[in-house]
Amino acid sequence: MNKKPVVLVTRKLPIAVEKKLAEHFETLLNPDDKLYTTDELLQLAENVDAILPCHTEKFSAQTIAQLPFRVKAIANFSVGVDHVDLEAAKLRQIIVTNTPDVLSDATAEIAMLLILGAARRASEGERLVRSQQWKDWSPAFMVGKQITGKRLGILGMGRVGQVVARRARGFDMTIHYHNRKPLQSSDTEGAVYHAAVEDLLAEIDVLSIHCPASDETRGLLNRQRIAALHANAIVVNTSRGAVVDDDALVEALKSGAIAAAGLDVYNGEPDAIHPGYRQLDNVFLLPHIGSATEETRDAMGYRAIDNLIAIFKGEEPGDRVA
Ligand code: DGY
Repeated sequence: MNKKPVVLVTRKLPIAVEKKLAEHFETLLNPDDKLYTTDELLQLAENVDAILPCHTEKFSAQTIAQLPFRVKAIANFSVGVDHVDLEAAKLRQIIVTNTPDVLSDATAEIAMLLILGAARRASEGERLVRSQQWKDWSPAFMVGKQITGKRLGILGMGRVGQVVARRARGFDMTIHYHNRKPLQSSDTEGAVYHAAVEDLLAEIDVLSIHCPASDETRGLLNRQRIAALHANAIVVNTSRGAVVDDDALVEALKSGAIAAAGLDVYNGEPDAIHPGYRQLDNVFLLPHIGSATEETRDAMGYRAIDNLIAIFKGEEPGDRVA
């Protein structure tokens, strides 16, 4: 009987996923969920045929060049692949896959939570109750922004963006979007397309960011574009911190150039995020939990396994990105 290929799993995965993976592969698991250094990762990769990592492991060109030639695939447990240098992987003929689709609902839920939380000052209110500082009620107390009927701008109308649009319609929001190209009208349900990001920003009350981090989108929401938003605007990001210029966003939130922000992703996460965010009352902050539901974690794992099975059968994996 042929030996099963060996897969290095960099983080603790759901039990059902680890069990299913073990049916098809020999597995090198991480039961303590330790965050490996690059050196540890390279050492662990010595005798494996594939790696199943998360976005917490960085595969720079330098790291990929040092991977043993035995490593044939990087099957990510993530939809985002900005932690992998795809060109370097292609050069080494390492197949790279991701897990699209299965986290759209969970991420859209968090986007809606951030929209509502930022608009209705949820973080501020929660702190008030917990710290026993809540002493009074009056019509002027904790007044926020109403979302119902407002204009939502979606930056990146891909899978997640389209689910957010659907959920937001439940709040009677009108949907505007920017993409490199307009979608077919059958996919947009009347959403208004803006060819220029600036035009989108000038037309909306809430911005929800859903484009991946890439060379084209890094720092896309910069000072100049933030200036196109109006003073009641709310910015929400569930995609990647790299899309936002933090200095510019913090400045706008501080000065009142925009009303509030809801963030789940950051430059420098987890422990080196812009310190300004922590000091502001008008931001609702979550720790990168867009896809963190039991259903979605399982589905991400199964999707990564399907990709690995296809690769080691010599077939084209469903979610190949390099
Ligand atoms: C993703 O899948 O990209 C999420 O951000 C978790 O990594």
